[in-house]
Amino acid sequence: GLFGEQRKNSMGANLGNDNELKALADAIAASAQAWTAVPLVPGGKSGAATINVTDPADRRRIVGTWQPADAALVDKALANAVAAQPEWDRLPAAGRAKILEHTADLLEANRGELIALCVREAGKTIPDAIAEVREAVDFCRYYAAQARKMLGHPEALPGPTGESNQLFLNGRGVFAAISPWNFPLAIFMGQVVAALVTGNAVIAKPAEQTNLIAYRATQFLHEAGVPAGVLQFLPGDGATVGAALCKDSRIAGVVFTGSTETARAINRALAARDAAIAVLIAETGGQNALIADSSSLPEQVVKDAVSSAFYSAGQRCSCARILFVQEDIADKVIAMLAGAMDELTVGEPRLLSTDIGPVIDEDAKKILDDHAARMDREARSIKVAKLDASASHGTFFAPRAYEISSLAQLPREVFGPVLHVLRWKASNLDKVIADINATGYGLTLGVHSRIDTTIEQIAKGVKVGNCYVNRNQIGAVVGVQPFGGEGLSGTGPKAGGPHYLARFVTERTLTINT
Ligand code: SER
Repeated sequence: GLFGEQRKNSMGANLGNDNELKALADAIAASAQAWTAVPLVPGGKSGAATINVTDPADRRRIVGTWQPADAALVDKALANAVAAQPEWDRLPAAGRAKILEHTADLLEANRGELIALCVREAGKTIPDAIAEVREAVDFCRYYAAQARKMLGHPEALPGPTGESNQLFLNGRGVFAAISPWNFPLAIFMGQVVAALVTGNAVIAKPAEQTNLIAYRATQFLHEAGVPAGVLQFLPGDGATVGAALCKDSRIAGVVFTGSTETARAINRALAARDAAIAVLIAETGGQNALIADSSSLPEQVVKDAVSSAFYSAGQRCSCARILFVQEDIADKVIAMLAGAMDELTVGEPRLLSTDIGPVIDEDAKKILDDHAARMDREARSIKVAKLDASASHGTFFAPRAYEISSLAQLPREVFGPVLHVLRWKASNLDKVIADINATGYGLTLGVHSRIDTTIEQIAKGVKVGNCYVNRNQIGAVVGVQPFGGEGLSGTGPKAGGPHYLARFVTERTLTINT
């Protein structure tokens, strides 16, 4: 397999167990708990005022407070990182791997609090929050195992007699890790630990919406043994912190997950520096399709379309945005889709009965409301799901499905629970494939068919990073389904895959004439 037999993915919490369930409910309800996040920069302090964090499911609830970094602190963090990195890089990789494994244990030991934070700060449903913690744990253990394998000892290479050749892998220097709010723990951890275990210093700048979770994650990494100067926490807005980091010649690499536009801006900033050429690892958006042909099972198509398009409030980059359904079964699938959407519970994510929680903030809701208004004019509405009574004080957006007539109606990714349905004719499969490729994105693809040649034609024809056949297209598993796209969807390498760490290192060949 891709990893040694020793490593197992995390089991997460068992919702069938009453004791585990009660402990989780208590952790989430603990209203006395107020979290804070402040910059963690040795020898530095921010002068900025603190900001309240409110719960996306109920904006009246304060979850905690955070303090942004100011410009002077960015400079201090960079100086600290440059000073701390060489010693960290000289440690044996196995030592760094052990710290990651210790971190994984701490995450598991504090699972209740982390799940509560994912629910309260990010508006995640309980099952999504459980999966989030599992993925974070898996990233730690998987990259630890990969580092042991790749960096454990130099590779000896053959050469003429009288000569020794060795290939060493080292950290590149200082990485900026700029992480998103949609996987505030898992992607934060994945980026940070990959850069750390390969011998880099890291300045972590999480999304402004989810600083509290990222701060706790940073504390666990420090507790596990990452030195304070090697991993610094630098919350703030994109202009003050993110842009300042990417302009600075002391940054050797950026690992980023977010929009394609921001990735381009980072790339430009890095390229404009009068400095060494930096590495950019970017995981960006998608315009993900699900293709169902007339041999597929409508029940299964609808079940997987609903979970891929609407669960997690459609706020995964992997989510299905466009359902291409072959016309013979289109009426049936559309009717069943509308029926299934009637059964969705959209509301308070603390309740286990909830399927779909809020969107992350007012800005996200506004973009979705505007999109829905345009679709109401330009497309045929199939269904608008109901909001539960518990959804009245948060930033909720009711899942919607529309039938559209052309992909041209969707010029860009819409990051929320909206599914667009397009009918296709059997003779047009090549055009469907060409249209999907013409979006320029290449992240996930769902295929529903029971015809092997059709599956093969689609899977080989569509240029995407993750293709899923006869199942949903979300929730890639670390070490099992390496995740990430191509084209407008990202640079690679794939997170949770065997090549990820390679981009974080520099290679040095040592030849000795003996
Ligand atoms: N890795 C997530 C998924 O597979 C998306 O970021 O759904």
